[in-house]
Amino acid sequence: MRRHDTILLVIVAALLGMTWLLPSPSSRADEETKSTEKAAAKDKPGVKKTVLRAFMQKKLAASQSVLEGLAVEDFDLIAEGAKQLKTTAGAAEFMVLSDAEYLEHANDFRRIVNKLAVAAKEKRLDGATLAFLDVTMSCVDCHQHVRNAPVDK
Ligand code: HEC
Repeated sequence: MRRHDTILLVIVAALLGMTWLLPSPSSRADEETKSTEKAAAKDKPGVKKTVLRAFMQKKLAASQSVLEGLAVEDFDLIAEGAKQLKTTAGAAEFMVLSDAEYLEHANDFRRIVNKLAVAAKEKRLDGATLAFLDVTMSCVDCHQHVRNAPVDK
C-alpha cells in the first residue's frame, strides 16, 4: 500500500516537474493570449461583479442541496435549498440593473423556485423533481441571455 503511494507520488512529481521545466516556446499565439488576458484583467472584475459571482456560487451550492434532497427524499433539505435559492436570487438581483428581459428571467426564476418550495412543503417528490428541472432551465436561460447581453461591471 505505502509503496504504491510512494510510486504514485514520484510519478506525479515527475510529471509536474516536466511541465514546469519544459521550455515554453513563446509563439505568436501565446503572445496574443497574453495580451487578451491583460486586456481582460484591466476591465474585470469590478466589486459588483465579484459580489454577484459570490451570490451565484451560493446559488450553485443551494441547487446542490436541492438535488441531494431529491435524491434521498429529504423534503426538509429540498425546502432549505429552495429558501436559499430565493434569498440569494433576491440579493443577486439588486446587483444587476438591467434590461426588461433580464427582469423577466429573474421573475421566472422566483416563480419557479416558489413552485419548488411548495412541492417540498407538500412532500410531492415528482412535483419537486419537475420543478428542479425548471429551475435548471431557468439558470441556463438567464445565463444565455447574460452572455449575449453582458451586464455592466
Ligand atoms: C436572472 C438571471 C440569473 C439566473 C436565474 C441565474 N443566474 Fe447565475 N448568473 C447571472 C449573472 C448576471 C451572472 C454573472 C455573469 C458574469 O460574470 O458576467 C451569473 C453567474 C453565475 C455563475 C458563475 C459565477 C462565477 O464565479 O463566475 C454561476 C456558477 C451561476 N451563475 C449559477 C447559477 C445557478 C446554479 C442558477 C440557478 C439555480 C443561476 N445561476 C441562475 C444571472 C442569473
